[in-house]
Amino acid sequence: MPVIAVIGAQWGDEGKGKVVDLLAQKAGVVVRFSGGDNAGHSVVNPYGEFKLHLVPSGIFSPQAVCIIGNGVVINPGVLIGEIEQLNKRGVDTSRLFVSDRAHLIMPYHILLDGLEEKARGSKALGTTRKGVGPAFTDKAARLGIRAGDLLDKGALLERLRPILDYKNTILTKVYGVSPLSLDEVYGQYCQYGERLAPYIRETTIMLEEALNRGELVLLEGAQGTLLDPDFGTYPYTTSSSPLAAGACLGAGLSPTKIDRILGVFKAYCTRVGGGPMPTELKDETGNLIRERAHEYGTTTGRPRRCGWFDAVAARFSTRVNGFTGAAITRLDILDIMPRLKICVGYEMDGQVIDYFPASVAVLARCKPVYEELAGWETSTADIRQFSKLPAKARQYVKRLEELIGCPVNLVCVGPERGQTIQKTPIL
Ligand code: IMP
Repeated sequence: MPVIAVIGAQWGDEGKGKVVDLLAQKAGVVVRFSGGDNAGHSVVNPYGEFKLHLVPSGIFSPQAVCIIGNGVVINPGVLIGEIEQLNKRGVDTSRLFVSDRAHLIMPYHILLDGLEEKARGSKALGTTRKGVGPAFTDKAARLGIRAGDLLDKGALLERLRPILDYKNTILTKVYGVSPLSLDEVYGQYCQYGERLAPYIRETTIMLEEALNRGELVLLEGAQGTLLDPDFGTYPYTTSSSPLAAGACLGAGLSPTKIDRILGVFKAYCTRVGGGPMPTELKDETGNLIRERAHEYGTTTGRPRRCGWFDAVAARFSTRVNGFTGAAITRLDILDIMPRLKICVGYEMDGQVIDYFPASVAVLARCKPVYEELAGWETSTADIRQFSKLPAKARQYVKRLEELIGCPVNLVCVGPERGQTIQKTPIL
């Protein structure tokens, strides 16, 4: 059985949770490999409706071991709350494990995320303020505290003391806010450690053993390619890599082990937070998509910016990820549209370009060049076979397939697990 990476191909919120929940029914292991509780993965299945922030979306499949990989930053309080919520609703979390190498979100990360955003004023990035950026900053700065550190209270105190001293200097001297108490933070994280100890492991061994047994392994991404710090709309990005390459690092797996890379695309585009989005619709059509699809952030509740499918960005996403297949989600949202537009190029300073520029200043000047297609104006929610879709819906998907540059494997026509059409096999 192979390893499949499930990757957000746009600006996040593409429906990766639904796709992972679906594929996890046959998986031996599901590993979440990046991001933190800035992510919100919506899953609707026989257990009910869930919004997961840290726990992999494979948790509903009784045979699947779920791993929160080393590439994730974990707010332990949020994780404990999520585990308790799942247990309360009858979902077993005894197969959940946390990499001892995963970094922790500390109270100062959350404080600093808010203070830094405030200091940016009108240039605020629109972060989720969950402390994710500051936690990844500390990882790179060698100032991080990791899940494994929770298992040794003495070592935790030794590690925390100088780091908190330094953070308190920044909090008080740069931002003029009150310092955090070492006793309180230490006490709190000792409690978290006691609660999470049964979950914290060396997880790369578990992964290797599953591969040796020939089990299906899913690598679950968070956020999307256009939020990647290298390839996204920098600096309006997140701070860990949502790319297929990030999956290897964040799960602890060799690139040679990945067999399929499934890019998840919404049938249109959304973005939450700051930064350019060439196909954004600040009009009635944008509002219609937002309300019909309930495009409000799962984590922050913020209204998402909505627009037409951007095939320039999509092709770029295929290039930097090497998608072997695509899932098109939320096709049903477009059921009511009499006409549809797909952005096939950008007009930049009077010139048409077909690549995704690195500079946000340039991207902000890009005007979409649209191709128009007729809508199908009928419900697709109950359709389960590609051949049964209205001809115009098939045309729309086939045109996306040509433009994206890889075969469409799945088409989703509603939030429920069953509301999925397998167009071509993933494997
Ligand atoms: P951060 O990841 O909280 O630092 O936020 C940085 C940017 O990424 C902001 O524009 C956020 O809105 C965006 N972002 C972070 N997580 C998600 C997500 O799960 N879906 C969509 N956007 C996200």
